[in-house]
Amino acid sequence: MSRLQAENLYKVFGRRPGEAVRKLQGGADREELRADGTTAAVIDASFSVEPGQIFVVMGLSGSGKSTLLRMLNGLLEPTSGRVLFDGQDVTALSPKDLRDVRAKKISMVFQHFALFPHRSVLENAAYGLEVQGVPRAEREERAHEALEMAGLKGWEKSWPDELSGGMQQRVGLARALATDADVLLMDESFSALDPLIRRDMQDQLLELQKTLKKTIVFITHDLNEAMRLGDSIAVMRDGRIVQLGTAEDILVTPANEYVASFTQDVDRSRVLTAGAVMAEPHTAIGGLDDAGRELRTPEDVLDAAPAKVGADTPIIELFTPCSTSGVPVAVTDAKGSLIGVVPRARLLAVLGEPMEPAVPAPVPDAQAATANDADQANEGTENVKKVSAGA
Ligand SMILES: Nc1ncnc2c1ncn2[C@@H]1O[C@H](COP(=O)(O)OP(=O)(O)O)[C@@H](O)[C@H]1O
Ligand SMILES: [Mg+2]
Repeated sequence: MSRLQAENLYKVFGRRPGEAVRKLQGGADREELRADGTTAAVIDASFSVEPGQIFVVMGLSGSGKSTLLRMLNGLLEPTSGRVLFDGQDVTALSPKDLRDVRAKKISMVFQHFALFPHRSVLENAAYGLEVQGVPRAEREERAHEALEMAGLKGWEKSWPDELSGGMQQRVGLARALATDADVLLMDESFSALDPLIRRDMQDQLLELQKTLKKTIVFITHDLNEAMRLGDSIAVMRDGRIVQLGTAEDILVTPANEYVASFTQDVDRSRVLTAGAVMAEPHTAIGGLDDAGRELRTPEDVLDAAPAKVGADTPIIELFTPCSTSGVPVAVTDAKGSLIGVVPRARLLAVLGEPMEPAVPAPVPDAQAATANDADQANEGTENVKKVSAGA
């Protein structure tokens, strides 16, 4: 079961919000409503977040990210649509149950990881648990663990001002992650940090996440950050989710010009993988190895290739092998069979611009696809299913 699901969520601020939703469902756009003094902050958002996933919501300021996040933990009531937490309808909870969920299960991480100056590092790291009423011995033990994971073992008794700025931020992150809550909502948590500390915090989050396996909804306006952190990314524009997919999906097949324009500044070499850029194996057959012998079979290609890599390898790791040989890098499956090749020219080409996938995605059985589409349209949960399928 998905940990968190949004089903056709709308949030409209202003007069007669219900009527505004009906207009939006009838095809009105956000600007028409704005003329009446009504703001459609979130329009028809559907997605699901799987346990242990980092789900990133990316978009410019004003695109509706914070409003969406606040609906997920019931801080804001949706104008229309539902939020499900472990299958339970958050939108239908009593105020008391809702407070309980917010206190123990879905925790909002503050934007600033500021520490209390008169508490030790350990007390700071344990603060979130203290607020939740966890007994001292237990919270200190867990704070110890979190600090150790954050690379701060040995600093427990220090005062915050004895730590560098970056270390203080990491204590703050350890505090945020060392809570009982399984689901963390992080709203632009790293946006105010300077770039080096920010990068360190991203690494730290990924590192802590390996052990803690929280379910995280992370909001950012920075696509590079989104791509580093997100297992799945929703790109928002003017209240709508305009694309939902992995970093690679967004880079390789942007849904529209708008998304494509965002991806221009992204460091493709770290996001794209060998599997996304590879050409079909047969394109290497008939070429020559570095000694001038013809490559006749997949085995020849495997033998002559300067490196054999898995489909998940980021292409940044292919530059060195490609520079030492004229033979393409071989992409292999788990059994070591050749599934694709990455020639040097292709590597250079993909750094430049969005591209069509080199190996077209397999076309699903046409009839089955039609039947599924009809089901999805009837249930109105198309996006939800798409994400689940991809996760
Ligand atoms: N409480 C509110 N009342 C009226 N308008 C709001 C309120 N909260 C947000 N908005 C509007 O909703 C839109 C989306 O805002 P927000 O969710 O904060 O976007 P983001 O977090 O992506 O910057 C903006 O136009 C904003 O002005
Ligand atoms: Mg915001």
